[in-house]
Amino acid sequence: MTTTLGRKPRVLATRKMMPDVEQRLQRDYEAVLNESDTPPSMAECLKAAEGKDAIVITSFEKFGPEFIPALSPSVRIIATHSVGYDHLSVPQAKARGLALTNTPDVLTDATADISMLLLLGAARGASWGDRMVRENRWGTPTLVSPLGFDVSGKRLGIFGLGRIGQAVARRAKGFGMELHYHSRNPVADDLASGARYHASFEGMLPFCDFLSINSASTPETRGIINERTIALLPPNAIIVNAARGDIVDDAALIAALKSGRLAAAGLDVFKGEPEINPGYRSLENVFLLPHLGSATPGTRSAMGHRALDNLDAFFRGDRPKDLLTGD
Ligand code: DGY
Repeated sequence: MTTTLGRKPRVLATRKMMPDVEQRLQRDYEAVLNESDTPPSMAECLKAAEGKDAIVITSFEKFGPEFIPALSPSVRIIATHSVGYDHLSVPQAKARGLALTNTPDVLTDATADISMLLLLGAARGASWGDRMVRENRWGTPTLVSPLGFDVSGKRLGIFGLGRIGQAVARRAKGFGMELHYHSRNPVADDLASGARYHASFEGMLPFCDFLSINSASTPETRGIINERTIALLPPNAIIVNAARGDIVDDAALIAALKSGRLAAAGLDVFKGEPEINPGYRSLENVFLLPHLGSATPGTRSAMGHRALDNLDAFFRGDRPKDLLTGD
């Protein structure tokens, strides 16, 4: 690869990636890989970044606002191996002339599939049903217990009709759900799968038998699922979250699940993950997954290649396709 540096750029990869992605990185760059896949501390990452031209980081590295200002001046681009970039500050990167890129599109379907898994799993008892069978608690079946909740014909509100939200809408339409959404702006009709736009988040909530969170984590969305907004949902509503854990106030969600104000929840993401609020563990009516949204070999490989496509463009002197720090 011809680069503007006249040599192979030096790249630090903070975590192990799919083998084909690592092979490409080693072929085209002077790469430092994380073969043991040990999560680096911020201090270790900063040290390893010294003298590097680029970092391929992941959303697991939640180093906070101290990270970018402390980064070696040799680093000119951070390519995050994730669509979400709430672990990095775009204004801080811009302020020091650092390029940031992410990996949209390639994980849309996989993540929308997980939203549907959460929705179906929470409604129909995938978690408690699985435990009953494994723990030999099936007992004598009766006609009235155990029971889950219907999905077909119910109303689904999608919070955030971006790429992943749109893919959830397409899937949910196939389940015969009535669709609603709230986003900052309405999206083109052909992308909304017939979903009805609500200009206010609060205004949509009374229409949500199911609420699927598919928005980014931003100062506006953090904690938006809280005691006040949960109270606006119809009785027996179900919340699913495949976006970011900090959009939800855990204490409020746990209280609503305990009291029966909410019927169930399906969660793939948690504030502070992999530590989670322990209150979730003892609840029967939650279906919990360990952040599996993009966790398939094909998707993880496509994400890695997308991150490298961005590096390639940057070091060729072109604008990376997924530049977050552009004008
Ligand atoms: C993303 O890409 O943002 C997914 O949540 C995986 O981190």
